[in-house]
Amino acid sequence: MTQQHPCPHTLGPATAPLWPGYADISPSAVKIHHLLAQRGEEVHNDHVALRTYNLAPINLQALAAPLLEMGYRPSGEYHFDVKRLDARSYSKPGWPRVFISELRVQDMPQNVQDTLNALVEQCPNRALTIEDLAAGRPWAPVSWETYQNLAQASQYAAWVAAFGLRANHFTVSVNHLKTFDTPVLANLNAWLQTQGFTLNTRGGAIKGDPQCGLEQSSTMADHIEVDFADGVHAIPSCYCEFALRHPGPDGTPFDGFVTQSANRIFESTAASS
Ligand code: NI
Repeated sequence: MTQQHPCPHTLGPATAPLWPGYADISPSAVKIHHLLAQRGEEVHNDHVALRTYNLAPINLQALAAPLLEMGYRPSGEYHFDVKRLDARSYSKPGWPRVFISELRVQDMPQNVQDTLNALVEQCPNRALTIEDLAAGRPWAPVSWETYQNLAQASQYAAWVAAFGLRANHFTVSVNHLKTFDTPVLANLNAWLQTQGFTLNTRGGAIKGDPQCGLEQSSTMADHIEVDFADGVHAIPSCYCEFALRHPGPDGTPFDGFVTQSANRIFESTAASS
């Protein structure tokens, strides 16, 4: 089942193919886009985020390759030591940014490394296309017990095992919203809560501030039913993020990401808020 995208003209050819695989498992994000459209908003996307393991042929570099071919350029590099993640962002003027992170598999417990290596060994050994970034799980489903063991070591590791390659979140550009009073992000957050959405309040509902160039908020991930090797279970899928960019000293909007904020945003796929 593929939802119709309410704003295809704001995505561009690199990120439009990523929407259906995200919309299928993100009912809240689809609903938010529709509710914003009902208010008269035209939703623009600030960035799309992808998750993977640092294992060839699906590591960060492999995911970035088709984007670089389409004219994206690296715009930043980020490290999350506690979560054992590294990330890079990519920009192309007029198109949504792309944020790609990868898990440092070698820093995980041996049993987790063994599980993740066995998953990635099932991937075809070839260069990835844009379509591959939205193709979902390129391996056979793991058992429910394996998922739970992974989640105990790293929620991120478990998310990738369950969902494979696909967008983890799309991000509404708050700069483009026109129907909310200032402060726009705080008023958007309040409106989302009156509509029944749960926000990620870890470290406060709003991460970042005008001084660092970027303010962000996000919903907590939906829970959706996923097929495991031995049955169906509901687990956290994807969330919807909101980003407000501020101009730097030279007057141009901040183009990168803020590590401390992203660290909290990652937690939007935790099992509970
Ligand atoms: Ni994000």
